[in-house]
Amino acid sequence: MTKTANSMWGGRFAAGPDAIMEAINASIGFDRRMASQDIAGSRAHAAMLAACGIITDKDADAIGEGLLTVLSEIEAGDFPFSAALEDIHMNVEARLKDLIGEPAGRLHTGRSRNDQVAVDFRLWVREQCDAVDSALEALMRALIGQAEAGADWVMPGFTHLQVAQPVTWGHHMMAYVEMFARDRSRFADARVRMNTSPLGAAALAGTSFPIDREMTAAALGFDRPMSNSLDAVADRDFALEFLASASICAMHLSRLAEELVIWSSAQFRFVKMSDKWSTGSSIMPQKRNPDAAELIRAKIGRIFGANVALMTVMKGLPLTYSKDMQEDKEQTFDAADSLMLALAAMSGMVADMQANVPSLEAAAATGFSTATDLADWLVRELGLPFRDAHHVTGTLVAMAEAKGEDLPDLTLAEMQSVHAGITNGVFDVLGVRNSVASRVSYGGTAPDQVRARIAEWKGVLDA
Ligand code: ARG
Repeated sequence: MTKTANSMWGGRFAAGPDAIMEAINASIGFDRRMASQDIAGSRAHAAMLAACGIITDKDADAIGEGLLTVLSEIEAGDFPFSAALEDIHMNVEARLKDLIGEPAGRLHTGRSRNDQVAVDFRLWVREQCDAVDSALEALMRALIGQAEAGADWVMPGFTHLQVAQPVTWGHHMMAYVEMFARDRSRFADARVRMNTSPLGAAALAGTSFPIDREMTAAALGFDRPMSNSLDAVADRDFALEFLASASICAMHLSRLAEELVIWSSAQFRFVKMSDKWSTGSSIMPQKRNPDAAELIRAKIGRIFGANVALMTVMKGLPLTYSKDMQEDKEQTFDAADSLMLALAAMSGMVADMQANVPSLEAAAATGFSTATDLADWLVRELGLPFRDAHHVTGTLVAMAEAKGEDLPDLTLAEMQSVHAGITNGVFDVLGVRNSVASRVSYGGTAPDQVRARIAEWKGVLDA
């Protein structure tokens, strides 16, 4: 069966496309997600064409009204999307023609699908930056809530996943607040750079019509028009910056997810996930699985993948537009959806999880975690050079280990057998609470430091 030529561009075509050609070419299956952005762009363009005397006010009004009808049809879910019309741009315009007739054909004056799609996609990605920003703020607030509750709960701090030094729960939570705050600022930076308007670049070279690009840029909330028409239709770095920022944020989410998986295990018992964020096993009745954390950890792969995919799509393209660039959208949509879902799930889990405070504190005391405190005490109280103090402490750790004990379990006499100057005062620093309380350097783990950082961040978020 031979199809008829495309009604939007088929003037020079005798026959329509092969069915497979239509399948590979059509983007309406996914770019319908940009319907509201497409219609906003077209409304701004039509109003500008009238203001510049390129079309009549009457036609512009008919176009503007008609586009709102199209939008309400799409929002109501009764729009007849057609793959033969390829994409959202031509679907909307064809429906506009059904609704208002001849004036619809004047909308595409001084514009091309190349600048149209660049506008739509920028608007869509810009909205995602705003949505991610709010989701990140919610996650930061959930983490701060945990940090406030446990500013002085002691837990092991790890390096190499080996117990290193005692830290506070609040300090650990606030570490992620810092990371997610930087993620927010990356999205904010990307948003500033992407907020320029490609509309009016037309196919690639600009247009001979006396258009006003400042006017459409302002109407769409852009800071200004892009200043090179070739660049305007050719680049997708705005989407790549979004995906790069998303990837870094996703990496942070994945690390937190990994910690929640470890912490909720029977071996650690640092946290209990609430029922709302746990799943059971169909065969092992005792199980409480941290599926949401695992899925966050896994979904991150889709976000990294989208970033690599779009970099790969773009890297070999000569200026300006190539149809390859239609492949920018699906992956970006999927990455944005995955990120938003992961952020929402993480906020929920963090807000609801319950730290097991006794088990955190017991774990903090294992693994000779206060060995550094002992070495520091030898330096401070006995005037030993740090390297010597390190050696004395190492000998005491070996002694305790051989006895199957921890550092505070050694007797004073045992300690003095290694260094005669040691006094009872040493036992003050061997306790984990004293250890964390002593880390008062700026940004350290002492509860007072943590509380000060919490207060600062709450001020920033509430400002
Ligand atoms: N659906 C196309 C895309 O997403 C719109 C731009 C088409 N432009 C063109 N010259 N065929 O990239």
